[in-house]
Amino acid sequence: MSYNLLKGKRGIIFGALNSASIAWKVAERAVAEGAEIVLTNTPISLRMGELNDLAERLNAPVIAADATSVEDLENLIDKAMEHFGGKIDFVLHSVGMSPNVRKNIPYPELNYTFLDKTLDISAISFHKVMQVLYNKQAMNEWGSIVALTYLAAQRTFIGYGDMADAKALLESIARSFGAIFGKEHKVRVNTISQSPTPTTAGKGIAGMESMLNFANAMSPLGNASADECADYCVTLFSDLTRKVTMQNLYHDGGFSSMGLNPDVFTYLTKE
Ligand SMILES: NC(=O)c1ccc[n+]([C@@H]2O[C@H](COP(=O)([O-])OP(=O)(O)OC[C@H]3O[C@@H](n4cnc5c(N)ncnc54)[C@H](O)[C@@H]3O)[C@@H](O)[C@H]2O)c1
Repeated sequence: MSYNLLKGKRGIIFGALNSASIAWKVAERAVAEGAEIVLTNTPISLRMGELNDLAERLNAPVIAADATSVEDLENLIDKAMEHFGGKIDFVLHSVGMSPNVRKNIPYPELNYTFLDKTLDISAISFHKVMQVLYNKQAMNEWGSIVALTYLAAQRTFIGYGDMADAKALLESIARSFGAIFGKEHKVRVNTISQSPTPTTAGKGIAGMESMLNFANAMSPLGNASADECADYCVTLFSDLTRKVTMQNLYHDGGFSSMGLNPDVFTYLTKE
């Protein structure tokens, strides 16, 4: 069902890789709600080809950009504004990658060159995106910028490795930049802390299957799906949430507020 929540709005969506990606669902939902969008991802992921199908279906141009490259981001924002014929109303940062996690390197043994990459790709890229938007005055007033994060920024999930540190930094950047973007340009900046979700990035986390089952059993409402995350993103891009900014918003079926759930506890109780 569509409510036309994004009628007349224009946005850039980072991070749609394949149909499992959260950003993929957000792109579909945003267009269904009346938005015009530009899709972006790394040159290498574009060569995999799947994004072109989505782009064709949604009538959205694809502009390659490595989110760690300010030069690529400048080109992206210029081209997106050219395409829209004006400024931007919303941006989704749905970008994350850790070489340490990918290579299953235990946390005490982090490779620091990889750690630099994790932080740059998964957190500092969010600052870079906002810096370029800010410098180019590319956001419309009452625009909305959202990044996706995970509860490991606040609580320890062994196996999430240095992505936990990246997410903590990402959330901090949202607050720090949000204060300035809000004051000067009436642009809101938030992070959505999403349930574990079976995507390409999600499946890279050690023990993901058990994590999904555990979170689902612990959460009073069950895990939030990628489609449900897309619904939530759309509300944050819409005019119905104009005074929500600098927040880390949990979208996790209640998991983050749970301590004990008897459904899970009984598994561990010895007969
Ligand atoms: N899947 C989960 O369990 C889960 C839970 C909470 C938050 N998140 C977050 O959601 C976001 C999207 O991840 P997803 O689960 O949809 O997985 P995904 O693998 O579909 O998306 C990750 C995206 O990041 C992109 N990317 C990697 N390096 C990049 C770079 N240098 N420049 C630009 N893009 C780059 C990838 O190409 C990919 O499209 C990530 O920030 C992730 O941490 C995921």
